Amino acid sequence: MSKYYKNILETVGHTPMVQLKHIFPNSKHNYFAKVEYLNPGGSIKDRVAVAMIEDAERRGDLKPGGTIIEATSGNTGVGLALVGAVKGYKCIFTMPEKMSEEKRAILRAYGARVVITPSSVEPDHPMSHYSVAKKFAQEIPGAFLVNQFHNPDNPKRHYETTGPEIWDQMEGKVDMLVGGAGTGGTLSGCAKFLKEKNPQVKVICADPIGSILYDLYYHKKIVDPPGSYKVEGVGEDMLPDNVHLNMYDGFFKVSDQEAFDITRELVAKEGLLVGPSSGLALVGAVKAAEKLEKPANIVVIFPDSGRAYLSKAFNDKWMVENGLLDAEDTKNAFNRVLTAEEALADLKKK
Ligand SMILES: Cc1ncc(COP(=O)(O)O)c(C=O)c1O
Repeated sequence: MSKYYKNILETVGHTPMVQLKHIFPNSKHNYFAKVEYLNPGGSIKDRVAVAMIEDAERRGDLKPGGTIIEATSGNTGVGLALVGAVKGYKCIFTMPEKMSEEKRAILRAYGARVVITPSSVEPDHPMSHYSVAKKFAQEIPGAFLVNQFHNPDNPKRHYETTGPEIWDQMEGKVDMLVGGAGTGGTLSGCAKFLKEKNPQVKVICADPIGSILYDLYYHKKIVDPPGSYKVEGVGEDMLPDNVHLNMYDGFFKVSDQEAFDITRELVAKEGLLVGPSSGLALVGAVKAAEKLEKPANIVVIFPDSGRAYLSKAFNDKWMVENGLLDAEDTKNAFNRVLTAEEALADLKKK
């Protein structure tokens, strides 16, 4: 058997599980990260991108020369753009304006067309990223609207790959799985697989403050109206079909401040360059773990790479402007950028 891959799509999945050793030195629990940024497109979404396109090809919904269309906050777009590049499909993505510049640039690098829509409109508004994507799909011949929020091939791929990988890597010793939900595919698919293996495994969703999923889970209706938040890719202002609330065992609300703080700490202490939705999931995990009596093995999904957020979470100016960092704290930080003169003068002071 050859030792090389026939194309980059074959490298999707089989991501490492890494124990977090430094961030909670006094915890009685063991935390493990499923490091999904090591997928070729840099996120967990590569898995479902390959699945949703190949399943559509098998059904005849997408034919050679066709156009892939999706409303995406970025990562699914990257996965789909990667698949589109390898398989020769055109790609058009609609995304809300709040999404980072880097995410747009990556999609364009793969040759995709990016259409920016207003961030603060209702999902059924004609200018929402969902409605605009739908319109393109109706008008363009040979278009396939991927529809990650409602497409059952999304959770199915996590049931087939991510869930079994977690089970194998933990040798069945997993007590709790924690992640955020955007489409819900990751948690729903992994929950189904893990609970079939062991019904005692708890599946917890970390939900940004401003998302409505927490209310739908605990109150079956929206109590706090949807609000804006800075963590990208997770939380919702509608209920996607792929959020299978009956598979989840609890929800914890997480603020932007909590998510961004721990994300920055994670990178510096564990060497894992992840994005803010990973930090959000980890905060949710800690909140859920506080309720546990016995030490537990807790697996946290880290969906994407911090490289997509260099202009945001890892840019002190942006953090200060958005009220997430105190300007004073940045002035004397060791990791501030200095000129050689400043650094030498600093040496002399000591
Ligand atoms: C950065 C990021 N984190 C987490 C998720 C959530 O994954 P899922 O859609 O499987 O719920 C997404 C989804 O878009 C994402 O982009």
